[in-house]
Amino acid sequence: MSKNILVTGGAGYIGSHTVLQLLLGGYKVIKMVGIVGISLIIDKLLLVQRGNTLIIKQSYWVVRFDAVIHFAGLKAVGESVEKPLLYYDNNVIGTITLLEVMAAHGCKNLVFSSSATVYGWPKEVPCTEESPLSAVNPYGRTKLFIEEICRDVHHSDPEWKIILLRYFNPVGAHPSGHIGEDPRGIPNNLMPFVQQVAVGRRPALTVFGNDYATKDGTGVRDYIHVVDLADGHIAALRKLSDPKIELAFNPTSYAIIGCEVYNLGTGKGTSVLEMVAAFERASGKKIPLVMAGRRAGDAEIVYASTKKAECELDWRARYGIEEMCRDQWNWASKNPYGYGSPESNGVMK
Ligand code: UFG
Repeated sequence: MSKNILVTGGAGYIGSHTVLQLLLGGYKVIKMVGIVGISLIIDKLLLVQRGNTLIIKQSYWVVRFDAVIHFAGLKAVGESVEKPLLYYDNNVIGTITLLEVMAAHGCKNLVFSSSATVYGWPKEVPCTEESPLSAVNPYGRTKLFIEEICRDVHHSDPEWKIILLRYFNPVGAHPSGHIGEDPRGIPNNLMPFVQQVAVGRRPALTVFGNDYATKDGTGVRDYIHVVDLADGHIAALRKLSDPKIELAFNPTSYAIIGCEVYNLGTGKGTSVLEMVAAFERASGKKIPLVMAGRRAGDAEIVYASTKKAECELDWRARYGIEEMCRDQWNWASKNPYGYGSPESNGVMK
């Protein structure tokens, strides 16, 4: 029987790709756009208890959900420094509200979008799930807090089964070219910026630092194809419905999943210049570069250990940076202004 999954933030970049993979995998999906919907649901439930006119709107919870995938949240590091309360309210309070609503409806299976940001500036790479955690900005702290909240919730009631997925750097787009990343305003992240340079919306990429102790002096990250990342969520859902884990480092022993964390990355580090070169090959476009100083708070080298997810979730990334750039260029060339028009999307002259 197909499972019902509630997806918060299902219209976002990772959310939309995951919803598609869920549908292709035979799941039934109800998508909520953003976290605001959660309080709306609560309002509706209260109203439904008082009257009888809002029965249809209550339909979210007339469906019994087998699990929730919680993507909704704010994610701009700089904005989180400017507006910490907005981030704590939206990300932390929003998640608490969601957990309360889930508990009230007897749905205690959750997959949460965490981030490699919780490794801060790693002292050692690859980052394993046991690496020390730290946060260098309010956005990162919301992820750390939510992870801790989830652990406490599971501890208080072991019926909860929670998988925290720590994403590394998602890039690329669905191979169809119909969905992809479309940030508002000036992109914070490398590949959306590169994409906008390639389609002529921005004159050049600013490279933040070329004096790191890396192969070419630029920062190294673990880029992962967004479709691989989406598939990681399907693997997590499978694990929630079959919660026995063969322990990664001791295959003869088992554990039952409680609140467990997994890295989703490829395990490979790629520098900014390598990524730009791969995109130039995929697109046939030259990306002009402007070398600049380091960006505050940036780590030098971050990449994942993928062992735990491979062993326990039976998941591994299939695509490399060539496919990431190919699919991102396919999306970009078909949709140079993303989901908007040149007028709506801040064209730079
Ligand atoms: N970079 C540039 N120029 C740009 C943008 C980025 O040179 O215009 C460089 C950065 O300095 C870094 C690399 O490209 O070396 C990747 O930067 P991103 O901003 O794309 O990604 P980050 O690794 O800094 O951050 C991302 C997400 C965060 C998440 C973090 C987890 O944006 O939300 O990964 O490690 F928390």
